Amino acid sequence: MALKTLQHLLDDGVDGRHILVRSDFNVPLDEEGSITDAGRIDASLPTLKALLDGGAKVVVMAHLGRPKGEVKPEFSLRPVAEALSERLGQFVALAGDVSGEDAHERANGLTEGEILLLENVRFDARETSKDDAERAEFARELAALAADDGAFVSDGFGVVHRKQASVYDVAQELPSYAGYLVEKEVEALGSVKNEPAHPYVVVLGGSKVSDKLGVIEALAAKADKVIIGGGMCYTFLAARGHNVQNSLLQDDMVDTCSDLLERYGDKLILPVDVAAAPEFDKNAEKKIVGLDDIPEGWMALDIGPETARNYAAAIADSRTVFWNGPMGVFEFPAFADGTKAVAEAMIAATRDNSSFTVVGGGDSAASVRILGLDEEGFSHISTGGGASLELIEGKDLPGVSVVSE
Ligand code: 3PG
Repeated sequence: MALKTLQHLLDDGVDGRHILVRSDFNVPLDEEGSITDAGRIDASLPTLKALLDGGAKVVVMAHLGRPKGEVKPEFSLRPVAEALSERLGQFVALAGDVSGEDAHERANGLTEGEILLLENVRFDARETSKDDAERAEFARELAALAADDGAFVSDGFGVVHRKQASVYDVAQELPSYAGYLVEKEVEALGSVKNEPAHPYVVVLGGSKVSDKLGVIEALAAKADKVIIGGGMCYTFLAARGHNVQNSLLQDDMVDTCSDLLERYGDKLILPVDVAAAPEFDKNAEKKIVGLDDIPEGWMALDIGPETARNYAAAIADSRTVFWNGPMGVFEFPAFADGTKAVAEAMIAATRDNSSFTVVGGGDSAASVRILGLDEEGFSHISTGGGASLELIEGKDLPGVSVVSE
């Protein structure tokens, strides 16, 4: 299946046309409501700029968090509208509603090269409804903002795995195209999925094994090594009989992990040491210990230095690396070393071994930026967490299928 790309739409001409764009602006905010990582906003700019330069009247749809169909001010897209205005160098108006009177008035009032951001689409319960008819009705209201000669551009890669009104159903109402970001992501992740050069190393972290089961099953068969860190590794270590003390543990997944270890034993690589702390705190005391030496009542918050060296060595030999999920609590500087070691090893493998290195996902992508690493050092940094995993697993992505032919 080939994508209907933005280039096709630009070739047809967008001057004076209303173009509805789905972007993923689900960015992390701090307690004051300030954006802490604007990676997804930056990644949306090429598509928006191309449309604005072409004279389109751009109407952007996006979500923030999970307000569950209610208007909640803390989930307003206002901070995003401000960040977008700064980056585009032009005013981005924020509609006071999603598909209501204000949105319609403002969309009608746009002139060529102007841009409007709708309020959080998830303020309307129909966006995420399981009822096809409800979603379709909302999609028709959204599509109506694009007038008769409008079009839809799917560019919110982080959300293309969700069958939601502004991602999927709206494409049934308008001629639809894949934006530059979706095109770039599908190409990079697709090449890892379809033709990874070997040795192919997968690095998985994050807190829950249950979230990664599908991907472990799908990738263990294809990859040469699956390196496991982050909160999820302690359930594997428990399955191997280690006492992980108060480390993150999914009790109900221990048997599943035993089964995976039995089936893929040699391929699954686990820590040999950890960085432990007496409590989950930024300033907690830190001890590097072996797997059977976590002090009573303590918890592991990062992989240890010997583990980090093992993981870096495996990455150094690779020709393809796919990484999803931090190795530890990288937000606490004392427990960021494992995540940093993996990221730095990937940068070195890209440079020294021409390895194709892909960072998949929300937290791992954010960690690269928060730890101040060189984003250009990787072959590709995905803006999608769940979406990149589902693509690599080979699942159907509704927001991609609708712009494929
Ligand atoms: C994400 O942050 O992964 C995407 O924006 C999707 O958000 P969701 O998991 O709330 O659907």
